[in-house]
Amino acid sequence: MNYVPPAVKITRLRSAPRLRAAARLMAACDPWKKLGLTAERCAKTIQAPFNENYQATVRSHFAGLATIAMHGTFRGYIQALFVAEGFRGTGVGERLLRAAEARIFRSSPNVFLCVSSFNKGAIRFYKRMGYRKAGLLKDFVKAGHDEILMRKTRGPLIRTGRGTKAAARRARPV
Ligand SMILES: CC(C)(COP(=O)(O)OP(=O)(O)OC[C@H]1O[C@@H](n2cnc3c(N)ncnc32)[C@H](O)[C@@H]1OP(=O)(O)O)[C@@H](O)C(=O)NCCC(=O)NCCS
Repeated sequence: MNYVPPAVKITRLRSAPRLRAAARLMAACDPWKKLGLTAERCAKTIQAPFNENYQATVRSHFAGLATIAMHGTFRGYIQALFVAEGFRGTGVGERLLRAAEARIFRSSPNVFLCVSSFNKGAIRFYKRMGYRKAGLLKDFVKAGHDEILMRKTRGPLIRTGRGTKAAARRARPV
């Protein structure tokens, strides 16, 4: 029988109690658990000013969260991407990431994110989604663990001339 992907709904999430509940789920699993990030710390991070949160739901159940930071030099930074355990490997992460990218590309040509060097499954996932390594942040969150800075780009911040526009079109994600 053919695999039928679940119907995933992506909506903006502003409710503080629901964001705190999502933070508790995040803190209970890797990479946050391995890095020692508590639910309070996760909640503070995702609720920081200027962040936008988007939740995925499947049949009204919380299935995942994407947090994006839309300010500063690295605006378009995906602060967190999390799929609830029971929903992983079913395409929810891809849907959330594509929704975050669509939001970011409306106002910036770059999407940035960091992934822990030990998080091999997520690194594979991001590469498949078109992300490339842009740098290595040694001992960034916790000593002994590096963060890989990844970027997906549609072109430079300042666009000049037709050639640049064409290059940006070529770099457009599928
Ligand atoms: C990484 C993550 C967001 C991907 O979301 P997802 O819904 O599982 O992904 P999809 O179903 O869209 O795609 C599955 C891919 O994710 C990869 N993946 C990464 N971690 C995974 C996990 N814990 N369980 C299942 N798949 C995982 C799989 O290898 C698969 O890639 P492949 O098809 O090339 O083998 C999700 O698994 C997750 O939340 N993991 C734990 C938290 C995390 O690592 N977040 C990223 C922090 S930077």
